[in-house]
This record gives sequence, C-alpha cells and structure tokens, in this order.
Amino acid sequence: MPKTINSFSTLRQNIAGIPVADLVKQFGTPTYVYDAAVIEERVRDLAKFDVIRYAQKACSNIAILDRLRRLGVVVDAVSAGEVKRALAAGFDPHSDPHGIVFTADVIDKEAAEIIRNKKLHVNCGSPDMIDQLGTLCPGASATLRINPGFGHGHSQKTNTGGPQSKHGIWHEQVIECLRRADLHNVAITGLHMHIGSGTDLEHLSQVGEALEKVAIEVGRTITTISAGGGLPVPYREGQTYVDLDQYFSIWDATRKRLESKFGHAIQLEIEPGRYLVAESGYLIAEIRAVKKMGDNLFYLLDAGFNDLARPILYGAYHPISIAHKTPKTDVPHIDVVVGGPLCESGDIFTQEEGGFVAKRSLPLASVGDHLILEVAGAYGFVMASNYNGRYRAPEVLIENGQPKCIRTREIFEDLIRGESIPSV
Ligand code: LLP
Repeated sequence: MPKTINSFSTLRQNIAGIPVADLVKQFGTPTYVYDAAVIEERVRDLAKFDVIRYAQKACSNIAILDRLRRLGVVVDAVSAGEVKRALAAGFDPHSDPHGIVFTADVIDKEAAEIIRNKKLHVNCGSPDMIDQLGTLCPGASATLRINPGFGHGHSQKTNTGGPQSKHGIWHEQVIECLRRADLHNVAITGLHMHIGSGTDLEHLSQVGEALEKVAIEVGRTITTISAGGGLPVPYREGQTYVDLDQYFSIWDATRKRLESKFGHAIQLEIEPGRYLVAESGYLIAEIRAVKKMGDNLFYLLDAGFNDLARPILYGAYHPISIAHKTPKTDVPHIDVVVGGPLCESGDIFTQEEGGFVAKRSLPLASVGDHLILEVAGAYGFVMASNYNGRYRAPEVLIENGQPKCIRTREIFEDLIRGESIPSV
C-alpha cells in the first residue's frame, strides 16, 4: 500500500536530529537545510529501475549531486551550466549508463560547444535538435523526447504534454524525425516521455502505452526507454505517495513487451527531480513582525519569494512549522497569513493559485521565533533570486548528524558582481 501522510507537525525543534536553534546560531536565517538521509531513502525507493537519472534542475548544488553520484544515480542536464555542475560533481559523461544526458528543446551556443567537446549524449526535444546534433557530432547516437499528445502536472505551468506544451517532439512527427536522423547520420537509440511535474499515477500510467506505440514505429534500434520524472510527493495532510510497485510494474511490462518484440534487452530509466529531494529540504526563517490587518494576522519573515518562489508562481502549498526560541509543547493555534519582507503584495507563502491570500492554522508565535517552510528541497533554492537586493540564502547539508555548509550566504559583492558604472 502506498504511504499516506496523515499529518505534518506544526511544531518542530529539530531537523535531522539537530536543534533548529543550533542551526540558526551557526548559519543564520534564512537558510536552506537538507537531510541527506531522506535523499538516500528516496533513492532506495526507486532501486527497481535500472537507471535513476536525477533531474538536477530540482536542486543542483554540487554537494547534492556528488552524494547522488555516490549512490549510483546519474544526471540529466538542461543547459551548459547544468552540464558543468555535473562535471564539477564528478559525473563521467561516458560511463554506462551515460553519467550526463543533455535534455532540452533547443541547443544554445554554449550548449553546442560543450556537447561537441564532451561528446555528450543528447535527448532531443525538437526535430531541429536532431539536425543540429548531427552537424555537431556526426555519427552520434541520440534519444528522442516525445510529447505523447497529453500531459498533466500539479499546475498548468508544470504540464509538459499536449499541444499547449512547447516540450518534446510531437508524437505524430516521429517518422519525419527518423528521416532527419538518417540524413544527419544520427542513430536513435532511445525514447523518453515526461508529461509533467507533480502529476499522479492515473496520468503516469498512460505514458508506458504511449511510449510503446512510438517505440514500435522507431524499431529495433531502441535500447533505452525513460519514464521521465513527475512523481509527486505529499505536501499536505492526506496526500499519498504513488504506489511505486504498481508504477514499476506498468513500465516493466512495457519494457518486456518491447524486449520480446525487438529480441534484445532494454534499459528502463526514471528521471525524477522532486521525488528525490523535496522532502529533504527545509527553509528556516525568522519571524520579524507580527501584525494585524483587519481580520488577518500576519507573520512576516526574513525570507520571501526571492528565497522560495513556488507559492507565488503556482499557489503551491508548503507545510509550515514553528520552532519557538524557548521550546514549547502545548501552544494554542491561530489562523495566520505568512509573508516575507519583499516590497510586493504577492510575497505571501500562504496563497492559493491566482494570488488569493489564505490563512493557515499555526502555533502562536512572536518576533524572534523561527518558522520553517517544509518539503522545500525541490525547486526551492534553485529558483531563488536577488530581487529587492536580497542575498541568496546559504545551503546546509546534514549528514550523519553533522551540518555542513554547502553554499555560503551571498554578500553584497555577489549582488553587484559584473555591474559597472560607465564614466560620463
Ligand atoms: N525530466 C524533465 C524533462 C523535466 O522537464 C522535469 C521537470 C523532470 C524530469 C523532473 O520532474 P519532477 O520529477 O521534478 O516532477 N518548478 C516547478 C517544477 C518544474 C519542473 C520542470 N521539469 C515546481 O516548483 O513545481
């Protein structure tokens, strides 16, 4: 039976066994903290798949990449910058399976250079990429990212399938792509489908069948199939994990049918981002003001949407807990709105899609207490910005009871790096 999260505690004194007060003392606020043990557990959950390819866009700190590499995970990169991160973390693009795969819908100039120099494996998300890859690396093998004509995500903005999505090669264009591949001396060795982020088993289970259809069109050159990412994690009470045994069985059956059709082994990949890191991450902030606006009581923090953009972008819900300065166990709850320091009304962590402010029942707290935005490891720090002249927060990895800084807090010099005032 897939596990359901019945409740998230609204009071928290420790993260991965370390008192929040100690973390704050050592690293200040706001700070991102990741629990390495959770990442390791999530990797183990997916062990049935032949290859776990981490979509590093979810959290790309090189320390996280390094730890995943040591656990046998390989990576996906969507830009030259992500390729360089993977190289910096020790991934070998030519290992078997490929340590790094470049997946995108376009190849920009810097990506072209690194694909050519490092002979990267490319997962083509547009017919033009096939031609471009053939020119860059004649004789290369490639995989095709197919848009199966349907998609699903936790938000319309994270749905990557169907005619409204810019992602992938349209499923009816496969034969044309094979012609292009022949013309440019590119061998198509695999297929990949990613229908969206934060989707569900109902939608995910339709993908295997769609991929099988395309694989039969492509034929015996196929040696790898990728189920893409999209596995959801519970962010709210009552939400359930996907039944991974069932999910694997669907894909394993697809793979086995193709193996018997083609007469050779087929490697089954999965490409999660969120699933591996979301629950490992916490954003610790300090309450800096408590104020009333009509009927609404606001907790205002020293972290804003420059630190965690998911609520303002998608109306995303993150569990919230309070760590009181003086630990408390029995505290009354009140309905509050949680916001940040930015000079923009949308800087609210408790909002619904469309920007509607929502209230959350949280423990009574005061200025100086800490508030923790939880399940923040995926698409948290990586989407942070310097808006309003704010420094990006540090990142801390807790491993074997030891918190280690894996990225320092930015300073003013980071903020103006590269800027200059031309002489008049
Ligand atoms: N593979 C491809 C080709 C992708 O585009 C993505 C996510 C993934 C894998 C990983 O998907 P996941 O397993 O994490 O669902 N910023 C949004 C999510 C954007 C996802 C973009 N692509 C959010 O905060 O929810």
